[in-house]
Amino acid sequence: MNPVAERTALMSKVAKLQIGDETLELPLLVGTEQEQAIDISKLRATTGAITLDEGYVNTGSVASGVTFLNGEEGILRYRGYPIEQLAANCDFIEVSYLLIYGELPAADELSRFRTSLRRHSMLHEDMRLFYDGFPRDAHPMAILSSVVGALSTFYQDSLDPADPDQVEISILRLIAKLPTIAAYAHKKSIGQPFNYPRNDLEYCDNFLQMMFALPTEEYEIDPDFVEALNLLLIVHADHEQNCSTSTVRMVGSSDANLFASVAAGICALWGPLHGGANEACVGMLEKIREDGCNVKKYVEMAKDKSNGFRLMGFGHRVYKNFDPRATIIKETCRKLLAKRSIDDPIFDIAQELEETALNDEYFIERKLYPNVDFYSGVIYRAIGIPMSMFTVLFAIGRLPGWLAHWKEMHDSPTKRICRPRQMYTGATQREFIELDQR
Ligand code: ACO
Repeated sequence: MNPVAERTALMSKVAKLQIGDETLELPLLVGTEQEQAIDISKLRATTGAITLDEGYVNTGSVASGVTFLNGEEGILRYRGYPIEQLAANCDFIEVSYLLIYGELPAADELSRFRTSLRRHSMLHEDMRLFYDGFPRDAHPMAILSSVVGALSTFYQDSLDPADPDQVEISILRLIAKLPTIAAYAHKKSIGQPFNYPRNDLEYCDNFLQMMFALPTEEYEIDPDFVEALNLLLIVHADHEQNCSTSTVRMVGSSDANLFASVAAGICALWGPLHGGANEACVGMLEKIREDGCNVKKYVEMAKDKSNGFRLMGFGHRVYKNFDPRATIIKETCRKLLAKRSIDDPIFDIAQELEETALNDEYFIERKLYPNVDFYSGVIYRAIGIPMSMFTVLFAIGRLPGWLAHWKEMHDSPTKRICRPRQMYTGATQREFIELDQR
């Protein structure tokens, strides 16, 4: 049993399940924040029945010590530290260390971590050639997952998930190289020369120079942009068992290597119901602007079930009160735009949309609030990051969370391959029909 499960089991009570005349006692585990979970691991072996829970709305796939969130109260903590405190006091690399290794780093540990990351920021020169093969209008998320998957072909020395040294070097390579892979995807899309990473710069500063510097002129890194970027990456860094993190765990559970697992996580994040919502949200705000800023029309459309349209950046599977990340981001967004005297009509539309929806019975009843993606795109726009790169930024932010969960899973002595069951509803047995008789 892993340490978290062991702790929870110590505090266990019993839940009773009645199937017909038979009563089954199931351990009721209690987490460190008093969350309760019924342990059904022996259910099928004892009763022959399985549980059915589409979308895993009620299903805990794991006992984890990485991130705690309480959707009813709007609480998010990485390794016990409130997101508000981390956002106010740390940079993204410090938070990454916390998530992956479990504790805030001491000064020398943090310095060693930063140095190690700097040493691994370049891509193998042959990898640059991949970019020649992608169409110029390829979506950068597709490039990101392809190139991350391809890291396993270049680093065959570090693919063994059971070897801690190989895992450690793969973690460093991934965090260090992901911004380089991402910035090259952007430069490719606009036909500009790629910028090598610069080891004299911090993580976010370096990313901005790789994204925006030109060989023809001096590029000045804007400290406001660096601050906003750090903050955005921190609030995206982990969110317990979300779709992409569960994907990374699922793929990793088969003992696939870390690069393959993370490439799969990037694909899961791409979807508009998950990480792709930031891009979809700005697209929606743009559309409202072009349509004469008629916010009410779009709120009505979102309520109309026959329409299929949803307010992007609104609603969350877990948060049913407010998303604490959205609160932090909205304030950063407001400050950044004010400080830089940026008058972005999209921000005004977003605020009006938020206010209209939050006062509308449909959204109140369903507890739908702006999520992390509602304002993040407005900040990315202010920094000059193109819309197609928004979800890529989310991936860079989420990477330490994926790594922390992958590592936690592999460090657990109770790790098993993830393999859900199903309830079969197809045809029962029937006889094969020859082709000429169908
Ligand atoms: N606009 C309008 N109605 C909505 C919205 C929305 N954005 N979100 C949910 N609803 C409605 C649903 O139609 C449903 O109504 P009903 O009960 O009358 O059928 C009800 O609210 C519950 O919605 P579900 O889809 O069942 O909630 P679920 O937990 O499965 O989905 C999700 C959560 C995917 C985030 C959903 O709210 C959504 O599609 N939001 C828009 C996309 C988005 O912003 N995604 C980013 C999520 S955050 C992240 O990944 C970082």
